[in-house]
Amino acid sequence: MPTDTTPDDPHDEIEIERRRVAKVLAAVGGVGAVSAFSVSALAGLSESGKIEEPDPLFVEGIRLVDADGNPLTASDAIPQNEELEPLTVYPEEEGGGAITEDRAAVLLVRFPQDSYREPTNLDGTVDGYAAYSKVCTHLGCAVNGTEGTQLYCQCHGSAFDPLQGAEVTGGPASSPLPQLPIGVTDDEDGQLLLATGPFEGPVGPE
Ligand code: FES
Repeated sequence: MPTDTTPDDPHDEIEIERRRVAKVLAAVGGVGAVSAFSVSALAGLSESGKIEEPDPLFVEGIRLVDADGNPLTASDAIPQNEELEPLTVYPEEEGGGAITEDRAAVLLVRFPQDSYREPTNLDGTVDGYAAYSKVCTHLGCAVNGTEGTQLYCQCHGSAFDPLQGAEVTGGPASSPLPQLPIGVTDDEDGQLLLATGPFEGPVGPE
């Protein structure tokens, strides 16, 4: 008679997952050389033993909207010129509206398409638009300022270059703002901007 193996306690679930991964590793002959950390990483577990949440905010196909939930058309969300005029946008909530959590905020920028350089993911840009997390990777303030063509955090002065993958160009931050890959979808109102995947790095301070 089959027994119910569904764990009631999340710690039991974690233990079962650890054993499952260890079994797989043993099957390929590498378990002896693999540390506990590696097992955790492969199982999607953090070192503290918690199951890491996938980012639920952006997945392929989620439309970008303004704070009022209005979709953004590629033709006119931001004028195309050499200036930096970032627009704060959000993922669209199911059924309409915007998810305006701090960690969901995105800086949408637009430059001539051939202005972008590595390490920008060019496949994640469209029609001159690129998108980056608005959460500063230093201590988590909102990146609200600009300085020339740089995005600037007024808390402690970190600067990020949106033409080069939002790499750090000044201040105490040590990591770039993660890029959000974007594309467009055809709609009766025009070509609407959407995410083509999740953020390409961790949001906020590491
Ligand atoms: Fe942005 Fe410190 S939080 S520079």
